[in-house]
Amino acid sequence: MSNNIENLSAWQKFIKKMTKANEIGKEEDIMTDHDYDGIRELDNVLPPWWLYGFYITIAISIFYYIMVFMGNYNQEKEYADSVEEGKKEVEAWIAQDKKAHPEKYTEAKAYTDAAHLAKGKELFASKTCFACHAVDGGGGIGPNLTDDKWILGGGVKNIFNTITKGGRPGKGMVAWENSISKEERQLLASYIISLQGKKTANPKAAEGDIIWNGK
Ligand code: HEC
Repeated sequence: MSNNIENLSAWQKFIKKMTKANEIGKEEDIMTDHDYDGIRELDNVLPPWWLYGFYITIAISIFYYIMVFMGNYNQEKEYADSVEEGKKEVEAWIAQDKKAHPEKYTEAKAYTDAAHLAKGKELFASKTCFACHAVDGGGGIGPNLTDDKWILGGGVKNIFNTITKGGRPGKGMVAWENSISKEERQLLASYIISLQGKKTANPKAAEGDIIWNGK
């Protein structure tokens, strides 16, 4: 019980210290001689709680002044820093992805030696490409692969990409990504490149307006 009273009085002391309010009934002590049509004015001191808050804002403003105008901390730097951080995260992700799926990051390569081209020719038959492009690549449902006109672009990169991702929607050339391995798609693209300019039994008229003749 006595503890409570002590606590209370300590609290009251604190409040008194923080407000420095003049006691009621002692207004005369701080009454100024200002008198405006009977309205009088008390000369209260600034309450310490308010004053301390004001000092804190001054201290903070000095801190920011030094940081922004003397140090190099500002919004632009903060932005640049977070962009830098983001770039690092992306790089880390790519590095990780490269490890997990190395095949996604290696460029398709074109083989030119007979052994690989023979394998490509075999695949052209076994993977049913011939059904639409003819056994010799002269074309049928699908375009002639021996001329220098390409609908989707020539060169190993484009041809590999067409085999991987397919042709334009609804045209009949599907994406072979999931049914033919990357190495086999490279062999097929290499074989198709080797067909450039070859005479075929029943050549289909050239289609497409991208010119690429193997060079
Ligand atoms: C069902 C028929 C069909 C089959 C099977 C087929 N293709 Fe195609 N292919 C097409 C059609 C149709 C196009 C034209 C796509 C377009 O116009 O967008 C085409 C386009 C292409 C092109 C691009 C030609 C150009 O002018 O840009 C290549 C390369 C190609 N096929 C390779 C292959 C390979 C390799 C296979 C076997 C794995 C294959 N195709 C199987 C129908 C087929």
